[in-house]
Amino acid sequence: MQRLGILLSGRGSNFLAIAEAIRTGRLAGAEIAVVVSNLPAAAGIEAARGLDLPAVAIPSAGRKRAEHDAEVVASLRRHRVDLVCLAGYMRILSPEFVRAFPNRILNIHPSLLPAFPGLDAQSQALEYGAKVAGCTVHFVDEEMDHGAIVLQSVVPVLDEDSVETLSARILEQEHIAYPEAIARVLSGEFHLSGRRYIHRGRQT
Ligand code: GRF
Repeated sequence: MQRLGILLSGRGSNFLAIAEAIRTGRLAGAEIAVVVSNLPAAAGIEAARGLDLPAVAIPSAGRKRAEHDAEVVASLRRHRVDLVCLAGYMRILSPEFVRAFPNRILNIHPSLLPAFPGLDAQSQALEYGAKVAGCTVHFVDEEMDHGAIVLQSVVPVLDEDSVETLSARILEQEHIAYPEAIARVLSGEFHLSGRRYIHRGRQT
């Protein structure tokens, strides 16, 4: 069994999609070892407790990043986490954190990276006038929304879209893409060739 550590700050719908994929066997060979939130009031942490999963709040407010991250890393290690999944974790990771889990941290971002990194990606896409949008699951490196891409899903941007309707269309794809990306990483069938995450059987 490969052990996932989920980090979140909010409602936790991606976390729940991962938990559901495990429950239904779509994401086999994985279990959620711990859910960590930097915000004790995050709905996702409540949801984790509701599923009887180990849930830990490690408040970040007023703490130095390096100090807070060290505590999160220690918690992940205590729970023997193999793969860290950021799921709406609204913090930039320190280099020390990233180095503690080399190519073992994933993030999901609601845009087709490298377009629209950072906050409010969906409104950035609308304002820019993009005709397609989507989500990206990527490895986390020391730059924000930058690491190698594991998987992307595309959705159309419709003329009548608001930020809400576009976000909802993207979120639906996020819930499919994230478990699928985790399955790819855990399968051991893919490897990095530069920035390209490709199937071992298909390399040239
Ligand atoms: C998602 O849109 C994700 O792409 C972004 O933060 C949001 C988290 O939503 N990183 P949820 O907490 O998983 O519902």
